[in-house]
Amino acid sequence: MKALFDLAPRALRLLAPEEAHELTLRALELGAHPNAPPDPPMLATSFAGLTLSNPIGIAAGFDKDARVPDAILRLGCGFAEIGTVTPLPQPGNPKPRVFRLLHDHGVINRLGFNNSGHDAALERLRRRPRQGIVGVNIGANKDAADRIADYVRGIDTFYDVASYFTINISSPNTPGLRDLQDPAALRDLLTRVFASRTKQMDAGKPKRPIIVKLAPDIPEELLVEVLAVLTEQNVDGIAISNTTLSRHGLRDSNAREAGGLSGRPLFHRSTITLARVYRATGGRTPLIGIGGIDSGGAALAKIEAGATLVQLYTGLIYEGPSLIGRIKATMADAVRRHNVHAIGDLVGRRADEWAAKPLEG
Ligand SMILES: Cc1cc2nc3c(=O)[nH]c(=O)nc-3n(C[C@H](O)[C@H](O)[C@H](O)COP(=O)(O)O)c2cc1C
Repeated sequence: MKALFDLAPRALRLLAPEEAHELTLRALELGAHPNAPPDPPMLATSFAGLTLSNPIGIAAGFDKDARVPDAILRLGCGFAEIGTVTPLPQPGNPKPRVFRLLHDHGVINRLGFNNSGHDAALERLRRRPRQGIVGVNIGANKDAADRIADYVRGIDTFYDVASYFTINISSPNTPGLRDLQDPAALRDLLTRVFASRTKQMDAGKPKRPIIVKLAPDIPEELLVEVLAVLTEQNVDGIAISNTTLSRHGLRDSNAREAGGLSGRPLFHRSTITLARVYRATGGRTPLIGIGGIDSGGAALAKIEAGATLVQLYTGLIYEGPSLIGRIKATMADAVRRHNVHAIGDLVGRRADEWAAKPLEG
């Protein structure tokens, strides 16, 4: 089974990206995947009050409708994140809307939050065993009259089944969504979202961490203001980053497509932004490092730049699921080499170095 799975990335590349993705989800739904061995204790870590057996997850967008969170955990991830889900189902943008950049090991997507809506995802999450960490990434419908109300609905709807929430205000494919990263709008959004969590906690429910996922394209001066709002509102974590609108250094002809760019070409920009956020927040807010992880070395670089957890998506398309095991081996090796106890001891050790690099170097 493992050998078959390692061949999958090449075979899947013969199909259109969305067909390949659907086939992957169906295989996972059928349980046609190898189960990972238990993690060594040195990879265990904690994040905003959650305890994980390892810091690796698959990023949002892979399992938009909560079809396979348990398969993701069995593949060896320390956590899964479903979504982005919006209150009402929506079809997203016209196809084709996902493009591989084979030369650059990247992907451009302009899916536009295609998903089956809250009810369908909630139904699936209610049916699954309450084991493992499964976060819910929430967003707003394209034509919502009050977008912030859609996020509040996300918190209310999934409170009993989510281990944590990610507020996605950084997708470039819903026009105007990234405006919610403007400080005043962000403050309004977070005030309402946290009020909704407080209501749940007043009813005796546990505190669910709330994480905000940012774009890697926020100008430096604005980033300072955004971080001031996130700190003032006491967010439990920050995820950096979503896809980029930058097309710096690409060679593939698909680079002309509109949408968000992910994968290897995003690695540099997202890791530098991660390190800058780590420095600006003094390492006090735990971070999820995302963007262009396609090797053990790249995942370790995110940890050293300041990430407590990492997530990946595009790397899996090019490398297949054996990448997860390879990342763990690299991380375990680094823990031994540096003579520390656990992976968490390496967080941020090279943040200064990363933060000083130019974004488009
Ligand atoms: C096809 C595709 C769909 C995505 N959908 C979402 C989404 O629904 N919500 C979200 O927060 N991020 C979404 N993302 C962004 C990823 O979660 C991640 O932040 C980004 O791809 C960078 O990581 P990577 O380089 O490892 O892919 C999507 C990415 C891709 C490639």
